Amino acid sequence: MQQEINLLSKLPRGKRNVNARAEAKTDEIIAISRQYGELYFEAFGLDISEYALMHCEPEVVGRLHLGNAVKLPFPDNSFKAVISLNTVHNLDRGECITALREIERLAPGRAFVQVDSYRNAEQKALFEEWVLTAKFHDYPDGWVAAFREAGYTGDYYWTIIE
Ligand SMILES: C[S@@+](CC[C@H](N)C(=O)[O-])C[C@H]1O[C@@H](n2cnc3c(N)ncnc32)[C@H](O)[C@@H]1O
Repeated sequence: MQQEINLLSKLPRGKRNVNARAEAKTDEIIAISRQYGELYFEAFGLDISEYALMHCEPEVVGRLHLGNAVKLPFPDNSFKAVISLNTVHNLDRGECITALREIERLAPGRAFVQVDSYRNAEQKALFEEWVLTAKFHDYPDGWVAAFREAGYTGDYYWTIIE
């Protein structure tokens, strides 16, 4: 017998900011959205933590990949931009280089990476007291050398504890 049933009731519900959408919406944005192309399926993420993926915000469910930054499961030059925040330093130096190469491969010159750093001995000592997960960290010069070695040409910035 035919029935009205909400089969999607168990799916996570995103919190929608309707006002923000209403203000941003234009005819051009609607037309682009209706092409269901690259811009419609805009953002993707990757994290090594299954826990993080299982507890992500509802609106990004299905857009996150489980994986390691040393091997990004996307084709060359496939993103308009790649952003990596406070993650690459969790790899050892050799793996950092590999991860930076991967980021560059996906978005040559169109990436931003932020990593742990310090500008003087006092900041370095403070960082070393605090750090739990980072395997590679350095002064900005050391990071810039690693960027060069990797052929990474994107932008960058530092997370510094003061
Ligand atoms: C400090 S959190 C930053 C998370 C997020 N980028 C942000 O800014 O909120 C570091 C993240 O790096 C992830 N991570 C650690 N090693 C990784 C690896 N080899 N590949 C991918 N993600 C990794 C951790 O699971 C964690 O989610």
